[in-house]
Amino acid sequence: MQKPLDHRRLRALAAEFGTPLWLYDAAVIRERIAALKAFDHIRFAQKACSNIHILRLMREQGVVVDAVSPGEIARALAAGFSSKGGKSEIVFTADLATEDTLALVVAEEIPMNAGSIDMLRQLGEKSPGHRVWLRINPGFGHGHSNKTNTGGEHSKHGIWHADLPAALVVIAQFGLKLVGLHMHIGSGVDYSHLQQVCGAMVDLVKAAGQDIDAISAGGGLSIPYRDTDALIDTAHYFGLWDAARKEVEAHLGHPVKLEIEPGRYLVAESGLLLSEVRATKDVGKNHFVLVDAGFSDLMRPSMYGSFHAISIVPAADEDLSQRPLRDSVVAGPLCESGDVFTQTDGGVVTPRSLPAAQIGDLLVLHDTGAYGASMSSNYNSRPLIAEVLLDGEGGNNARLIRRRQTIEELLALEA
Ligand code: LLP
Repeated sequence: MQKPLDHRRLRALAAEFGTPLWLYDAAVIRERIAALKAFDHIRFAQKACSNIHILRLMREQGVVVDAVSPGEIARALAAGFSSKGGKSEIVFTADLATEDTLALVVAEEIPMNAGSIDMLRQLGEKSPGHRVWLRINPGFGHGHSNKTNTGGEHSKHGIWHADLPAALVVIAQFGLKLVGLHMHIGSGVDYSHLQQVCGAMVDLVKAAGQDIDAISAGGGLSIPYRDTDALIDTAHYFGLWDAARKEVEAHLGHPVKLEIEPGRYLVAESGLLLSEVRATKDVGKNHFVLVDAGFSDLMRPSMYGSFHAISIVPAADEDLSQRPLRDSVVAGPLCESGDVFTQTDGGVVTPRSLPAAQIGDLLVLHDTGAYGASMSSNYNSRPLIAEVLLDGEGGNNARLIRRRQTIEELLALEA
């Protein structure tokens, strides 16, 4: 969401749609897509934000998608993507899939980005000749948290690099069509390792000794959650991968497509979580500001100790600079001590200096467009909250793209 925030607008949106509320700014998503246009394919990792309307917006901009479950395949199909007839608008990435999922992948002719040799074999038995990618774990990785590092021996993801020859045997056995090699070594990566990642891809292509059409850089691009975080230089990022692609092309003797598979980068900064301050209290030395959103809505701070910038929106027009600053622990309504938005990895509550919050103020958690709504749960029997997309001139057109779940809907599954 573009800063500074328009307080009146946010109050009007809260009044119209209620809180807590997810808001997305379509213009920001379009800008981020444009910044990656140098890549041949931008494949959106929809796990970051899988609302069908966001997927449609992506599709209108020429972005294709990744899916990791039957639900994500259904969303991609509903948004109009298809992989039938040799298209590859949907790719299914998985280390494992059930029989039903494999049947769906086969019926929809969706290329599989296989993360295990067992999956290759099971797919080959069902669908000889099927298009596949190999997701390789190059033996190293990194992420903003240990939980998002997907390379190395601790990670369940990908085919271990030394097993590449064994994977190729299975591919040959079932006449599978190898489209390309893929690496996603983690989320929230540190760019100092990029050269090493690109080098590993070139080495893998050479080691495979197969003809391929494409390579995928995976996702992982970071965004500046803090003012002090560096902005990613997408031209530099593309340049390093493009150089790797050129080495691969020289080796294979023909053009090779370069894909990228970001989730966070495309959507994180487009989104915010709007909540309402419902209570404040002092607990020993800590001043708590309690809002109506919890980790059932935004899980990242509780799960990874993630930082999200916080703003206060006064209940009525007011110059906030006149309010005293107060070290505040921002927490939610859940019956669990870890339901705190200002904490570090390991659950240490960390007060944030904010204009002293009052009951009825709105509280904004910024940069929640990625892994916000998509990681929500019904914990404490709280219904999923609504999502609104702002689009059109100045974002003036507010469209409800997911209505709030009702308590009746929650109970209905158990009827
Ligand atoms: N490709 C694959 C195969 C992935 O597993 C992921 C993310 C991506 C692409 C996109 O990664 P991104 O560009 O968004 O970093 N819940 C965590 C992030 C988990 C990411 C899982 N896989 C968070 O909130 O930070």
